[in-house]
Amino acid sequence: MGMQFKPLSALFGVETSDVDLSQPLSDALFRELEQAFYAHQVLALRGQAITAAQFANFARRLGPPQPHVIDQFHHPDDPNILILSNVKQNGGPTGLQDAGSYFHTDYSYLAVPARATTLYSRVVPKVGGHTLFANQLAAYDDLADAMKQRIEPLLAVHHYGNRHDVNEASRTAASLLSAEQKARLPVITHRIARPHPVTGRKALYAVSGSSFGIVGMPDDEARGLLDELAAHATQPKYQLSFAYGVGDVVVWDNAALLHSATLIDRDDARTLWRITVLEEDRAAAAPDVLATTFATKG
Ligand SMILES: [Fe+2]
Repeated sequence: MGMQFKPLSALFGVETSDVDLSQPLSDALFRELEQAFYAHQVLALRGQAITAAQFANFARRLGPPQPHVIDQFHHPDDPNILILSNVKQNGGPTGLQDAGSYFHTDYSYLAVPARATTLYSRVVPKVGGHTLFANQLAAYDDLADAMKQRIEPLLAVHHYGNRHDVNEASRTAASLLSAEQKARLPVITHRIARPHPVTGRKALYAVSGSSFGIVGMPDDEARGLLDELAAHATQPKYQLSFAYGVGDVVVWDNAALLHSATLIDRDDARTLWRITVLEEDRAAAAPDVLATTFATKG
């Protein structure tokens, strides 16, 4: 008997309660999960009770983990785990708060970006705390042919941050980096119409979030085009709102989706553990991941 998967929405996302990540997972069962992940873009494994090591062992099978550049909230047992939390201890934070409350794709500011992000839900707030996902495969498919042709050759310029909110004090800006953390991140480019590295299906890639310009295009024109694409790509019809239960492990496909955290009451406790795994390093072969440092304005 295979695992039973239930849809999370009409367009994408599936969940299953038939997996226990505290037990060894055979290659055959893992392959079934991996196939469901690439077919449906969001995979929720409900009701897990696992250690940091068990969580990391699962994530590692999806791809090489990449510790987050914000290193002050790495899990003490495993630095691949970033703790997201609004819980305070001795007056200080225990995790990163308000992370990614705008549509973006994880690590799109890296030359080799994130394949998948996995979240393990530890403490669920009384109200909200959902993750919104927007399906960029469907958003690309629905573009007019003229727009598909227009964006086909275009490379977006990415760097860490949120194009729509560069006020670092805002709750919807990107999480603040130190000067030393910023210095580690060069400006890089990715195709806007980007073939999925595993399935080959084209998706709109990171048109919201870290995309600040387009190679060879004046900034105002580039921002206008990216904004037009982002407005199209985040329409409610492409979205799924995921509600966490305690113990849920959620995996999403960063090459196929945009996602956004939703802000919650800062006194309503919530804790998640996160591991992000990278794509294969195709830098030598693929022109879309040129690790070029661009001289950008502003
Ligand atoms: Fe994110």
